[in-house]
Amino acid sequence: MAEINGSTKVCGIFGYPVEHTFSPSMHNAAFKSCDLNFVYLPFTVKPKELERAVSGIRAMNITGVNITVPHKEKVIPFLDEVSEDARLIGAVNVIVNRGGRLCGYNTDGAGFVRALKEETGFLPPGSKILIMGAGGAARAVAVQLACSGAALITLANRTPARARKLADMLKNAGFCSEVLAYRYDYPDGGPELAEAVVVNNYDLVVQTTPVGMHPKERDCPSFPFQKLRPGAIICDIIYNPPRTVFLKRAGEAGAKTCNGLGMLLYQGVLAWEMWTGYRAPVEVMRKALLERLQDMVN
Ligand code: ATR
Repeated sequence: MAEINGSTKVCGIFGYPVEHTFSPSMHNAAFKSCDLNFVYLPFTVKPKELERAVSGIRAMNITGVNITVPHKEKVIPFLDEVSEDARLIGAVNVIVNRGGRLCGYNTDGAGFVRALKEETGFLPPGSKILIMGAGGAARAVAVQLACSGAALITLANRTPARARKLADMLKNAGFCSEVLAYRYDYPDGGPELAEAVVVNNYDLVVQTTPVGMHPKERDCPSFPFQKLRPGAIICDIIYNPPRTVFLKRAGEAGAKTCNGLGMLLYQGVLAWEMWTGYRAPVEVMRKALLERLQDMVN
């Protein structure tokens, strides 16, 4: 890292807990490689201190921060501006301080779409997409895919009411011509999902639930992979382990696969570019993330 001096610009992450985050490694590696006088720090912010911590961004002229669990939704009322997609997603993961005006963005969904394009060549316009799960991550992914021109989005969730709520929001926002919601029975999948896969010929399936994530790596949502059309892309937003059982089975069935590392990387790339105004050194950031992941495995 360059020497910290009186001109160093400060970025960081607000979360609780924040110890597990990979973001400082990724952002500081990028600052160093571009020889920028910036530093990125973790800030442990308890929920009851969030408002005061956000005021501190202005008070201490912090350049920008990431917002992580559990603050992504709760931070919105404390900001001066919130982008349209962040408002629809209902969560902010990036704040940019523009001369004391705090502007909130969500780069999780945009990062996901960018990673998918870079890694698989997938482009959303006109596509048919199945999203498994209907929580915060599914919401970010669904809103961004819908804004980017997807023709059909199906949401399948253990709690169908939650899938329907997200489907209604997407329909009301008027982005997508068709939005469907189904019950997803874990671990069987359920008949509705199998039929939807046959009828709708999905181009992309996105697994957004924590099923299969470390330390429960043997778990796998059941899915009728054999019923997918040839050439369909299957993405699991989990990055630890890098290849979930779900992705292994998808690969064995002939699907093109992609994990969640790219989403983590590109949400950071987009934030870094907003804070610095420069093009991010993507490969440096990817390497830093992979090193941290390797440390976790060892
Ligand atoms: P995140 O912000 O990471 O998306 P979340 O908002 O808690 O986390 O959402 C987790 C999603 O994974 C939800 O869709 C959840 O289903 P419910 O809405 O029924 O809770 C889904 N999920 C979590 N554990 C699951 C499991 N064991 N089987 C199936 N779905 C699961």
